[in-house]
Amino acid sequence: MCGIVGYVGDKQALEVVVDGLRRLEYRGYDSAGVSILGPDGLQVERKAGKLANLEKAITDRQGAEHDLRGTLGIGHTRWATHGPPTDGNAHPHVDCAGDVAVVHNGTIENFEVLVRDLEDRGHQRRSDTDTEVVAHLVEERYDGDLAATVRSICKDLEGSFVLVVSHKSEPDLVVAARRNLPLVIGLGDGENFVGSDVTAFIAHTRQARAVEQDQVVEVRRAGVTVTDLDGAVVEGESYHVDWDTAAAEKGGYEFFMLKEIEEQPAAIRETLGGRMQEDGLLHLDELSMSDEDIRDIEQVVIIACGSSYHSGLVGKYAIERWCRLPVQVEMASEFRYRDPVVGRSTLVIAISQSGETADTLEALRHARSQKARVLAVTNTVGSTVSRESDAVFYTRGGPEVAVASTKAVMAQLAAMYVVGLYLAQVRGTRDTDEVRAHLRDLLDMPDLVQEVLDRMDVVRELALTLKDEERVLFLGRHVGYPMALEGALKLKELAYIGAEGFPAGEIKHGPIALIEQGTPVVVIAPRHALQAKLVNNVQEVRARGARTIVIATDGDESITPYADDIIRIPDAKSLLTPLLTLVPMQVLSAEIARARGLDVDQPRNLAKSVTVE
Ligand code: M6R
Repeated sequence: MCGIVGYVGDKQALEVVVDGLRRLEYRGYDSAGVSILGPDGLQVERKAGKLANLEKAITDRQGAEHDLRGTLGIGHTRWATHGPPTDGNAHPHVDCAGDVAVVHNGTIENFEVLVRDLEDRGHQRRSDTDTEVVAHLVEERYDGDLAATVRSICKDLEGSFVLVVSHKSEPDLVVAARRNLPLVIGLGDGENFVGSDVTAFIAHTRQARAVEQDQVVEVRRAGVTVTDLDGAVVEGESYHVDWDTAAAEKGGYEFFMLKEIEEQPAAIRETLGGRMQEDGLLHLDELSMSDEDIRDIEQVVIIACGSSYHSGLVGKYAIERWCRLPVQVEMASEFRYRDPVVGRSTLVIAISQSGETADTLEALRHARSQKARVLAVTNTVGSTVSRESDAVFYTRGGPEVAVASTKAVMAQLAAMYVVGLYLAQVRGTRDTDEVRAHLRDLLDMPDLVQEVLDRMDVVRELALTLKDEERVLFLGRHVGYPMALEGALKLKELAYIGAEGFPAGEIKHGPIALIEQGTPVVVIAPRHALQAKLVNNVQEVRARGARTIVIATDGDESITPYADDIIRIPDAKSLLTPLLTLVPMQVLSAEIARARGLDVDQPRNLAKSVTVE
């Protein structure tokens, strides 16, 4: 939450920083601001609301007495925690003299004590934020060495933070510090960067280095130095980022989400690619587990949040079916608070697109403290989840910018099937011919997903008829159930419609009371062994007045008489159908949101990367 960027080099920093903020805006869009250090000293511009408001303020300022020219800059896009999203609470924050600028992601838990002490010593507080204390502390402690000042302040801060600081007297230095939240260095030629993630600087360099816990970074034109809080230099490896700029651009689409939906066949293909051997079996060195370790697993626990949790639920069906291992799927935010039973023989799978979700991170830390082995399934190379896990399976969905997750979920689903089949292959719970057959089915899925995408006009038309609804229910059975949850989450977050997903067999135990004349009920009903029971459930809701919108397999007529609207998908193995049923629900939610005039990429109150518990 909150996006941060810092730059020092030979370009005009304003353009670099605002461009970085544009790519980071998915992290929070309550306000945005920049500070530029140049001939006019330290200049700040900040505005409540989306980045567009800041850009307008920057344009309006052109020709003003103090301009924003300069080759050192820091910027921020905010998801508000302390204080409402006003101009005054927007970052950067400055000290009393206006010499220091600070942007911050996170929460300084002891800020009230610090504020009181600072006010007692005569400092004037101008915002409601916790961040501002850092600017005043720098003002008090600065003695010509900004990095040393920041290191000393970090020792006094409690909570989570990424701080990026610049000082009027140091025109070649941006200092950044990190505790518990993500910070990445971008290494350029005669210019260097820091950002909340690599998209902040991907237009300028693809060479990156992750910053570890309690490290402070000194970013200068000529190079970057990383130290611990005592000032000892820490060496580290840089890595090359595969994502290119085009992947993080809209590419002619009105919204990122619409582009990302279309990229889903590629997301599956990339995630499967290179993981199969010539003999048609899986080869997963990245799990860094010996065959013996894998045979010793007694239970699997999957931890994740939101859409990633739904991918985990599908993973449970696959792993239980193929590996005959008990699997629990836990909401990461609840996991560590109920003393879960995990240990050496537990494989914990932490699923996170961003790899930075605080709830998931804390859950995996707890699992590791209990000696469980943690496998991260993440889309983000070098993310905290990947660094803190025993092993990493990278989904290769490419950068996902829209707040609502689509192609990342698709890639996670593919990953769960691959991991499930690999465990089955090694444990011998499925013979090699069967594993090969399932893998062949999986390899067919990108084309089938493309076929679903090619049929989406019917869903776009349907969306127009649903745009004024206040409540929509989603029903599914077996792997259709997690997809019902996912369909409902998408509709809630994008269109602000009260949506709930249920296992179809459960509605008669209460939720059926929600059905009124015309209540839309989306039923996920691909051909499946439980089809007859699902048909009964559809009849039950229809008999009570529901408008049934059914996602059904080509040629399956068993449910047609009970469907008011029907969305057809191609036939596939039932365990793999989430890869297909997901698509119409994504399109439906995006199109309803669009028809309601909402911002599809940046729904209200949300941020893509949720780095607070
Ligand atoms: O980055 P993560 O996968 O850990 O994020 C988890 C959730 O915050 C995320 O899936 C969220 O639910 C999305 N907005 C759903 O579209």
